[in-house]
Amino acid sequence: MANLFPFMLLILLAYSSVSECINSTNSGSITYKGLRCRKYSAVLTDFGGKGDGVTLNTQAFQKAIDKLSILAKHGGAQLIVPPGKWLTGSFNLTSFFTLYIHKDAVILGSPNESDWPLIAPLPSYGVGRDTPGPRFASLIFGTNLTDVIITGGNGTIDGQGKTWWTNFRGGKLKNTRPYLIEIMHSKNVQISNLVLVDSPSWNVHPIYCTNVIIEQLTIRAPIDSPNTDGINPDSCTNVRIVDNYIVSGDDCVSVKSGWDQYGIKYNKSSEHIIIRRLTCISPDSAAVALGSEMSGGIQDVRIEDTVAINTQSAIRIKTGLGRGGFVKNIFVKGMNLTTMKYVFWITGNYGSHPDNGFNPNAMPVIKGIHYGDVVAVNVTQTANLAGIPKGTFKDICLSNVHVELAKKPKKIQWNCTNVEGVSNNVTPQPCGMLAAKGPTKCDFPTKSLWIDGMMLKTCSIVLGPHNV
Ligand SMILES: *[C@@H]1O[C@H](CO)[C@@H](O)[C@H](O)[C@H]1NC(C)=O
Ligand SMILES: *[C@@H]1O[C@H](CO)[C@@H](O)[C@H](O)[C@H]1NC(C)=O
Ligand SMILES: *[C@@H]1O[C@H](CO)[C@@H](O)[C@H](O)[C@H]1NC(C)=O
Ligand SMILES: *[C@@H]1O[C@H](CO)[C@@H](O)[C@H](O)[C@H]1NC(C)=O
Ligand SMILES: *[C@@H]1O[C@H](CO)[C@@H](O)[C@H](O)[C@H]1NC(C)=O
Ligand SMILES: *[C@@H]1O[C@H](CO)[C@@H](O)[C@H](O)[C@H]1NC(C)=O
Ligand SMILES: *[C@@H]1O[C@H](CO)[C@@H](O)[C@H](O)[C@H]1NC(C)=O
Ligand SMILES: *[C@@H]1O[C@H](CO)[C@@H](O)[C@H](O)[C@H]1NC(C)=O
Ligand SMILES: *[C@@H]1O[C@H](CO)[C@@H](O)[C@H](O)[C@H]1NC(C)=O
Repeated sequence: MANLFPFMLLILLAYSSVSECINSTNSGSITYKGLRCRKYSAVLTDFGGKGDGVTLNTQAFQKAIDKLSILAKHGGAQLIVPPGKWLTGSFNLTSFFTLYIHKDAVILGSPNESDWPLIAPLPSYGVGRDTPGPRFASLIFGTNLTDVIITGGNGTIDGQGKTWWTNFRGGKLKNTRPYLIEIMHSKNVQISNLVLVDSPSWNVHPIYCTNVIIEQLTIRAPIDSPNTDGINPDSCTNVRIVDNYIVSGDDCVSVKSGWDQYGIKYNKSSEHIIIRRLTCISPDSAAVALGSEMSGGIQDVRIEDTVAINTQSAIRIKTGLGRGGFVKNIFVKGMNLTTMKYVFWITGNYGSHPDNGFNPNAMPVIKGIHYGDVVAVNVTQTANLAGIPKGTFKDICLSNVHVELAKKPKKIQWNCTNVEGVSNNVTPQPCGMLAAKGPTKCDFPTKSLWIDGMMLKTCSIVLGPHNV
């Protein structure tokens, strides 16, 4: 009986806020798109949260989520973060749960390291990325979950990364920096309609997940901030990344799958991924990167309708000896690019190993890379394509590509080594290795991916007097 008590209390609380909410004479309702709607609602202030920008809310978040987790099997719950500034350290999500961040709410990541617990390195990476040992848990963390949604009315999550960047650059960190959002080993994940600002490192990191939807995110970090990648699907299957706007100091989207010997052993690929209508600004990085960590393999990635401005390269494949794994069946269609160093960039000697235990003979296989319908202006060098000696990157296809050069372009426009492929209707004229006549349109799968058909429902939050 004793452990029934908190459960009943919570039901009452949930019902009371719902019934109050039914009174709409003094309240409005908000709708949002969700994989699933929830039966119960609660507000962070119900659990002692204070949105004054000073009070630490880690315990309020964790208490709220732990209590609401009891409702998982009874229709699930949504936790509303109301208007205000909510300072917090890292907290953990639960299953059948929605975190809803109101448009006037700002979650502020604590700059104090003690508010971020340490967790083990990722098994497919073996070590932390900044330092060999443990890593700080992300601000919003979840593992082994089913059906979890982080969304809002474009409310903000501000990682206040400046302190982290300074300490990282000064070599003052003993552990790897945290991400803003990391979801591990989970199924049915939605991250949408948020503004993410100044992450200490990567912004959104789903890893070992299936069925992931990432939509309508606005991600901003200074263009010189270290490792502030936008969205990094890592060893995930069935991922839909659409309508995102990203300005950052590193790759806007980067598909990954583990690092050298650890990634080869873990052997979990990233596949069936859609990246559509990405808008990117990143002067020192790529709009979409594949790798460099790709040791579990990357395949069937479909990148459509990309817009990039003042970005170092459009699509970049990064790998090297020691990685093993593969990058194959990559389909790119529709890119509108303005001001680029390279449109096409493939790097076969990226280097960067987790430790000395990597196998220098672990050869990555790169093949079946298709690019169609590309318009670019103000470009310094059209392509820098470097395969690996004795490991030629094969089946590269280019169709309908038009690149206008910058005022002072490189003399050599196609710098190709150890690559093989075909082209059709490409200007400037490709290198000999790609000069063979290809199809008028490079392959793009006609059958859509299963994740593309995953519909979002319209869910509502009714605002009562105790709510927002
Ligand atoms: C609805 O709210 C109004 C204003 O707060 C109040 O006067 C009214 O009694 C409420 N109605 C119900 C059914 O609770
Ligand atoms: C959050 O999850 C991590 C990893 O499972 C764990 O180490 C940590 O203790 C959890 N924190 C809380 C407050 O439950
Ligand atoms: C960080 O938090 C710890 C533990 O709560 C506290 O002792 C310490 O004073 C804080 N540091 C700063 C710089 O606020
Ligand atoms: C989470 O899932 C992984 C992969 O299935 C498993 O190895 C791990 O033990 C699980 N962790 C917990 C805390 O259940
Ligand atoms: C959030 O921002 C995106 C991008 O600007 C916009 O398309 C979307 O309509 C906004 N959503 C809400 C709920 O305000
Ligand atoms: C990796 O997993 C795939 C199936 O997912 C399997 O076909 C392959 O043999 C595995 N490779 C290794 C090296 O274990
Ligand atoms: C590319 O984008 C620019 C500016 O956003 C626009 O003016 C132009 O029409 C676009 N070109 C194509 C071919 O879509
Ligand atoms: C063209 O690119 C150069 C950098 O290579 C940049 O300085 C310049 O502003 C760009 N011009 C236009 C018209 O965008
Ligand atoms: C061509 O690319 C190689 C790397 O593969 C680089 O070392 C070389 O400087 C490049 N040359 C030109 C002219 O861009």
